[in-house]
Amino acid sequence: MHKKGEQSYLEIDVDQLPTHIAIIMDGNGRWAKSKNKTRAAGHKQGADTLQKISEAADQLGITHLTVYAFSTENWKRPQEEIGFLMNLLRQYLDKNIKDAKKRNIRIRIIGDVERLDEDIQNKIMNIEDITKEKSGLNLHIALNYGGRDEIIRAFRKLYVEALESKLPANEISEAVFEKHLDTVGIPDPELIIRTSGEQRLSNFLLWQIAYTELCFTEKLWPDFTKQDLYEAIYQYQKRQRRFGGI
Ligand code: FPP
Repeated sequence: MHKKGEQSYLEIDVDQLPTHIAIIMDGNGRWAKSKNKTRAAGHKQGADTLQKISEAADQLGITHLTVYAFSTENWKRPQEEIGFLMNLLRQYLDKNIKDAKKRNIRIRIIGDVERLDEDIQNKIMNIEDITKEKSGLNLHIALNYGGRDEIIRAFRKLYVEALESKLPANEISEAVFEKHLDTVGIPDPELIIRTSGEQRLSNFLLWQIAYTELCFTEKLWPDFTKQDLYEAIYQYQKRQRRFGGI
């Protein structure tokens, strides 16, 4: 038995799972405020939720999960909060490097990592390397990521290449352009979830979400559970079925 509105695993059609789910993990600050805790405590709880949800997605058989952990706009936050988020990221990467043997999750980072501290860049290279042979979930963590920034960086790479190879302008297709995005090789998400009741995309995966189903939930990210993930997939599958109907 489960509460009304709570989906159980059994109600999901496992033959029609989305291949790629993207999540905007929002509401850590509000969660903390509602519990009289510091914003830092909210982010800490958010990182624990990420661990749980990535395990749940892996067990369910989802192939790709992309999460928005730090945006190009997040540098505008107070220095203290940025420092805390970066330390949390260090801990998260260290823990996952340590536990890599026990998990079947491949971790990859998208975004402009060059602006991150060097020790973090090293941890990123390390985790990408030691998880690269994993056959389970591909977890893509967006760090210093902005959709417009990604498109501009892709354009710069393509521009340099095009000049060097004298590529004619009419040979620049969507397929050629996509090869220069951070998400090269990753299929576009079929479903994007944003928690905490906000209904906007905040510069996340702008190129990739052209046909993505949007799911907004009131749940704050630290409260998000695997049942909420099932619920979002269930909603997505209902829409899919209507889409294919007469
Ligand atoms: C949005 O909540 C969340 C963020 C800006 C950071 C997301 C980070 C995590 C979930 C944890 C860290 C992840 C890793 C990989 C270490 P908010 O602060 O905007 O919440 P609010 O809108 O309620 O204030």
